[in-house]
Amino acid sequence: MTAVIAIDGPSASGKGTVAARVAAALDMDYLDSGALYRLTALAAQQQSVAWDDEAAVAAIAAQLPVEFVAGQILLQGEDVSVRIRQEEIGMGASQVAKWPAVRAALLQRQRDFARNKGLVADGRDMGSVVFPDAKLKVFLTATAEERARRRALQLHIDLDSEAYAAIVADIKQRDLNDTQRAVAPLKQLPDAHLLDTTELSIENAVKKVLDWYRQ
Ligand code: CDP
Repeated sequence: MTAVIAIDGPSASGKGTVAARVAAALDMDYLDSGALYRLTALAAQQQSVAWDDEAAVAAIAAQLPVEFVAGQILLQGEDVSVRIRQEEIGMGASQVAKWPAVRAALLQRQRDFARNKGLVADGRDMGSVVFPDAKLKVFLTATAEERARRRALQLHIDLDSEAYAAIVADIKQRDLNDTQRAVAPLKQLPDAHLLDTTELSIENAVKKVLDWYRQ
């Protein structure tokens, strides 16, 4: 089987950036599994399907007309790379992700990314469900306040503003959704390396993962 590095962790922990850089350094493919949940939430919204309608959302997830081309994410041919990053869609993703039928509908699609070169996959259940035999598992985290600070910087939001307080609340809500749900809850696995990036730069986080992989 193709070598897989599974990087799981909470919202805005920086796992996407770290995973993409590790993939580039090792010339591996990269799977942003959260994008699939975000795409599912967006497609449901576009079709006026409620995020709590498990069967209808699962049908959408099973049929997602998505293409990943040259850094762009196309849904039915339309570039939605920016749209799916909105907080509203992130919250929708976390709502549709709690449904077993939705997760099942996306399972094979995720495994298909591990076909060619090695794969670095980031998400919540990469090491537990999607790639339990991954060569390396990492649990990448940081405090909720630090994660909110990073997201605010990305969005050019002032740290004294109400908008920042809303981001902290959103991140805490998403942590609750992701860790408390019945299926594939986010947790640190016994065989995963803990990488707390609260006081670690991206470069050093990437280096740490590469060191573990090459050990
Ligand atoms: O960017 P952020 O870390 O906030 O989220 P994301 O990785 O894009 O994922 C969006 C949402 O999808 C998360 O809040 C999770 O609820 C869900 N998700 C999941 O359940 N399983 C995954 N493997 C990836 C994402």
